[in-house]
Amino acid sequence: MKAIFFQKFGVRDVLEFGDRPDPEVKSKQLLIEVERTSVNYVDIRERQGTYNRAETHVGGIDLPHIPGLQVVGKVVEVGSEEDRSWVGKRVVAYTPEGGGYAELVAAETDLCVEIPESADADLLAALPNQGLTAYLLLTASTQIKPGESVLIQGASGGVGSLAIQIAKILGAGVVLGTASTSSKLDFIRSLGADEAIDYTQKDWPKIVLEKTGGRGVDVLLESVGGEIFEQNFECLATFGRYILFGSTRGPGEPFAPRRLMQRSQTMTGLYLPVFLERPELIREGLEFLVKATLEGRLRPSIARTLPLSQGVEAHRLLEDREIQGTVLLDVGTSFVR
Ligand SMILES: NC(=O)c1ccc[n+]([C@@H]2O[C@H](COP(=O)([O-])OP(=O)(O)OC[C@H]3O[C@@H](n4cnc5c(N)ncnc54)[C@H](OP(=O)(O)O)[C@@H]3O)[C@@H](O)[C@H]2O)c1
Repeated sequence: MKAIFFQKFGVRDVLEFGDRPDPEVKSKQLLIEVERTSVNYVDIRERQGTYNRAETHVGGIDLPHIPGLQVVGKVVEVGSEEDRSWVGKRVVAYTPEGGGYAELVAAETDLCVEIPESADADLLAALPNQGLTAYLLLTASTQIKPGESVLIQGASGGVGSLAIQIAKILGAGVVLGTASTSSKLDFIRSLGADEAIDYTQKDWPKIVLEKTGGRGVDVLLESVGGEIFEQNFECLATFGRYILFGSTRGPGEPFAPRRLMQRSQTMTGLYLPVFLERPELIREGLEFLVKATLEGRLRPSIARTLPLSQGVEAHRLLEDREIQGTVLLDVGTSFVR
């Protein structure tokens, strides 16, 4: 089969487009002929070898590796007889071990959700990794209550743009998002955020305080890091919940947990692959995302669709911050096994 893969860690040129052996379909797995996959920031981190360094080791990956955490496609084979009825069905799949940038991928049956023939592959292929992260941040890391205020850092990104919409679906009150350019700020507003805030301005926390009647936000989703990590405390409410799930700009200064006592605040972290130990939560999340998207209440934003062979360009678009929304890879429908 054709695939994008890398045999060593490094800059995006390590990505190769070529032939790889078809994946083996194991027990309780489905073999999927891929229509669409999409690119996550996590794919870039994996390619750079971030997760294989001692200081950032969170699972690691073996080489050679085919990236790709999510696909839409058709089931062509099964690993267990009890799954036989899946053959021919169209599914959206979360593939946390990677493998999605390919014509075929093996996915755990538990991490697949059936979708209608008419469903939009582009929208659904953009969902699993970023959508599950956004959903679990608001339902498992904390449970957002109706009317509560939320600040989403880096809100024009894949996770952030879905988190804005999911927060609103779950009944949040004031939803605020940050970004670095005027077009990204317009984009955040178009998703339903009550205010889009430019976090390149030093005093951005003041705007959060203004929009929340001086209280600060009840829930803060943080993935940026750097100086933003510390500034967040200027606009987190008493009893506020600070949820950490990324550090795009690096980890920031060391943090003294004792400070959380002063205003009875809590801080928690989320790392999506850990939730594989709670498959019922992953499944609930996938079903929520697919249903909300099919009903038109959730709209993943698609930035660009490129052919599978253009994996390097897809990574460049994300790394150079040129886009808002998801970059899809079209694996094509002409492939015959
Ligand atoms: N914990 C988990 O399980 C988990 C799961 C998925 C993602 N993540 C993390 O969550 C973060 C967002 O992921 P995503 O998939 O939504 O990524 P994305 O679509 O690339 O969005 C990242 C956003 O972060 C902002 N940003 C700030 N500083 C940046 C920098 N130096 N380089 C690139 N972007 C920067 C960008 O907005 P501006 O240009 O407006 O600043 C961008 O919109 C990443 O850190 C990722 O590693 C964690």
